[in-house]
Amino acid sequence: DCPPRVFSGIQPTGVPHIGNYVGAIRNWVELQKKYDSVLLCIVDLHSITVPQDPQQLRQNIFDMTACLLACGINPERSILFQQSHVAEHAELAWTLGCLCTLPRLQHLPQWREKSGKYKEPGLGLFTYPVLQAADILLYKATDVPVGEDQIHHIELTRHLAKSFNRNYGVVFPSCKVVMGDVPKIRSLRNPMAKMSKSEPNPLSRIELTDSPDDIAEKIKKAVTDSTSEVTYAPDTRPGVSNLIDIHMAFSGLFAEEICEHAYLKALDTGLYKQEVSEVVIEKLRPISDTIRRLQADRSYLEKVLKSGQERAKTLAGATMCEVKQAMGL
Ligand code: ADP
Ligand code: NA
Repeated sequence: DCPPRVFSGIQPTGVPHIGNYVGAIRNWVELQKKYDSVLLCIVDLHSITVPQDPQQLRQNIFDMTACLLACGINPERSILFQQSHVAEHAELAWTLGCLCTLPRLQHLPQWREKSGKYKEPGLGLFTYPVLQAADILLYKATDVPVGEDQIHHIELTRHLAKSFNRNYGVVFPSCKVVMGDVPKIRSLRNPMAKMSKSEPNPLSRIELTDSPDDIAEKIKKAVTDSTSEVTYAPDTRPGVSNLIDIHMAFSGLFAEEICEHAYLKALDTGLYKQEVSEVVIEKLRPISDTIRRLQADRSYLEKVLKSGQERAKTLAGATMCEVKQAMGL
């Protein structure tokens, strides 16, 4: 019977791409209207599970803050803060880690996938799902908007909450995944894969601060196939269908409407790309203008994060008190 509360995190990877925007950030902006309590955390402790350049990381944290605000996160309605500013995340993660078995973590698909990429994977890479559980449980969050790839981690969170409650008395509520009806945007260079920060080719994604010329160029160079008609078939024509997905996400139109329009105006994929560019450029313009304005105002961004830290810390401190009390610490 905890009141509904949303927690979500995003890694400080610099300026988000349009996949992050339509797949996550825009959904959080909506959730602010539906919930009284929303926590949005820039999860810098998660980002250091792989090597980071300190100066770049600091810049990325401020860039992400500016982007979230520019996309419509209201720092008075939501608690927007930086994970490492609230030491209780690491403290609870340790505590929960003591309730978690090695096999439980070894079975997580993300570990099996990620650990293979490194000869000697770090401990942080192995235990970060426990930190993720701590992020959520620290605030007794009930509703967690995450992508499909995170579902196993939310199951782990529920499992650890139950173990804790069974061993020490009920402290944590159960949490559930809330998946908005959000689109998946694919890479412009490799439309079989999702658009991602980790793809080295910058032509593969549109970032929220890209100039109109950059956007037009990236869409112009987007990989399509040799068929010139504009039809929606994500499985057999992923390239052009991805452009339609982007167009839908930024216009609210349905695929059928878009394809009919292209047919009536006799647009081939080349001409259609210009239309998609115009829609994306128009929608991103006010956001990228605001990002740039906020990026230049470091003291405002610091003020927002400081206020978020204070509000988050009040909730986190109260939970840690209960946890320590229950465990005899
Ligand atoms: P990236 O792969 O770019 O590093 P993350 O894994 O940090 O992105 O994801 C941050 C958020 O953005 C998650 O909620 C994720 O589901 C969402 N997201 C990431 N890429 C896409 C995409 N291509 N389309 C839709 N949503 C995405
Ligand atoms: Na990622």
